[in-house]
Amino acid sequence: MKFFIDTANIDDIKEANALGVLAGVTTNPSLVAKEGVSFHERLQEITKEVDGSVSAEVVSEDAEGMIREGKELAAIAPNITVKVPMTLEGLKAVKALSELNIKVNVTLIFSANQALLAARAGAAYVSPFLGRLDDIGHNGMDLIAQIAEIFDRHGIETEIIAASVRHPVHVTEAALNGAHIATVPFKVLAQLVKHPLTDQGIEKFLADWNQSQQK
Ligand code: E4P
Repeated sequence: MKFFIDTANIDDIKEANALGVLAGVTTNPSLVAKEGVSFHERLQEITKEVDGSVSAEVVSEDAEGMIREGKELAAIAPNITVKVPMTLEGLKAVKALSELNIKVNVTLIFSANQALLAARAGAAYVSPFLGRLDDIGHNGMDLIAQIAEIFDRHGIETEIIAASVRHPVHVTEAALNGAHIATVPFKVLAQLVKHPLTDQGIEKFLADWNQSQQK
């Protein structure tokens, strides 16, 4: 399983990229709005920093508008992936954009049928939202497992991005259940690094070393 970072914050993206584990970036209108910057300018900055897929979401609700926006976003850089919501109009846009060789990430996936439809329409990625399913008392991880099983059984190459990741357990379980990618906020990425025994170990090694130097 690969790691994407789920943010439009350029400092967090640079910090994550320096760790050598970053395969891509996902943004959404809420994440961009939080930054208070020009969307296109920020996408230019992000695509200069990161070589992998950078998902940029359309805000139109009709297929024609999504296709127009998708073409404009894709023109920013070759590694832009156009993010389209899972609706009937969205599927039309997936078909049209993928036929133009523009990669599409279908977002707001909450059922296996939605993922299967998105894949068949031509999506390069589907984004099932784990945390938002957990929030309403469902098990988001069951959805990842179902989609992975269906894609595997039917030879579908669309990649599964575990999205709406809230904590490290989501990451481990997404990997175990067959997600190809987890897109994580910087906070979760940092949490993955930490273990109290690692910290204790470093402290003990340093204390022993310093003591030995005083002899
Ligand atoms: C990523 O593609 C999604 O937009 C994002 O993970 C949603 O996360 P949230 O449910 O925490 O807003």
